[in-house]
Amino acid sequence: MEEFNKIRSHILDQTRAFFNSTSGDKIVPGQNYIPVSGKLINSNDVVSVVDSALDMWFTAGRYSEDLERKLAEFMHQKFCLLVNSGSSANLVAMSTLTSSTLGDRRVQPGDEVITLAAGFPTTVNPIVQVGAVPVFVDVDIESLQLDVSYLERALSEKTKAVFIAHTLGNVFELDQVRKFCEKHKLWLIEDCCDALGAKYDGKLVGTYGDICTLSFYPAHHITTGEGGAVLTSSPKLKKLAESFRDWGRDCWCPPGVDNSCKKRFNWQLGDLPRGYDHKYIYSHIGYNLKMTDMQAALGLSQLTRVEEFIEKRNKNFKLLHSYLNGLDDCLILPKIHEKAKPSWFGFPITVKDGQGFSRNELRDYLEAKKIGTRMLFAGNLTKQPLYENVKYRIVGNLENTDIVMNNTFWVGVFPRLNDGHMKYIADVIKEFLSKRAK
Ligand SMILES: Cc1ncc(COP(=O)(O)O)c(C=O)c1O
Repeated sequence: MEEFNKIRSHILDQTRAFFNSTSGDKIVPGQNYIPVSGKLINSNDVVSVVDSALDMWFTAGRYSEDLERKLAEFMHQKFCLLVNSGSSANLVAMSTLTSSTLGDRRVQPGDEVITLAAGFPTTVNPIVQVGAVPVFVDVDIESLQLDVSYLERALSEKTKAVFIAHTLGNVFELDQVRKFCEKHKLWLIEDCCDALGAKYDGKLVGTYGDICTLSFYPAHHITTGEGGAVLTSSPKLKKLAESFRDWGRDCWCPPGVDNSCKKRFNWQLGDLPRGYDHKYIYSHIGYNLKMTDMQAALGLSQLTRVEEFIEKRNKNFKLLHSYLNGLDDCLILPKIHEKAKPSWFGFPITVKDGQGFSRNELRDYLEAKKIGTRMLFAGNLTKQPLYENVKYRIVGNLENTDIVMNNTFWVGVFPRLNDGHMKYIADVIKEFLSKRAK
């Protein structure tokens, strides 16, 4: 064996030994804080990251290539582009639709995009960032997903796209949304950041839209530290997304490769002279949002356990749901559409009005008993300071979105938790209710 291979092998063995010497902290219900989310790392993950670091390549390389291929396969899409966050994935997805090469269907400043105010800000921010106008529709209060009955009312002559998340890993009514988009020739971007592996009518979410996005922040189903992905099965959209991700350039060579197009010095684009190096020709106002190979190395190792992670999340969800059974006079528990098979990110609970206690009181009680809670992200985005001076349109009155803002929170179901944690969470909720209910 070459000397450097021997040393590499030694370092990787030592890395594994190092990992195995660390003791995984146990989360004891009642004694330790039960977080809402967190990464699940094993020795293979750490070995993979160190192996990639030893390549000393650092930018997108062999691990990125492999992860893009395997994620595309897993998501039943033709193409996957890795990016440095789910927010970047959303920015790339939205920017892609602004390319002049899309002709009449391109999203231009002042055009409208239908979306939700009850969700994560960076599903909506890219709409504003490209100069378009978010049109907010309400959610169904039981599923916390898009209420499809608002879609036709939301439509205007300026509508160009629908950009909606499968919030908390539950699934919105994809057949209705897709039909609506097809009827009116609208783009559909599915934000699947919370919902890796969820299905609708037997098909993976993300495959219904033109583009879908994922996040690999540690709270999500698999992690790359920071990270995300843009997926599509359209070669045209893939090429555009890649351009926006990679500085806006026209050239599509991966890092370290020259002349993929075989005519690097023979293009004439814009008003540039013929033969201007294609590597330095730019066709879009782009960014640099690429992922490093070390992040991809972690993702690739995590992806081998994705099915197990999803199964554990869904199992925890089912357990908690069953333990909370019978509390629906005061709490709204998450409803699943008959065609949906969610991939749960968290377990949302909405306090019904008029119960003699508030969401905040229940939340504070849980936190005092060492149970982590979160708001449903931004609640009602239109009430957040960042949207004070932003142009948007509201369809109806966002009544349920306000209920989400005032009455909803969620607790964790991530794979480090188990039956004992779910039982404890349910018991503490019941204890609170027995003390506080009217
Ligand atoms: C639905 C949704 N979209 C986008 C994001 C942003 O992902 P990231 O944190 O990787 O930027 C999140 C983050 O949790 C999210 O929940």
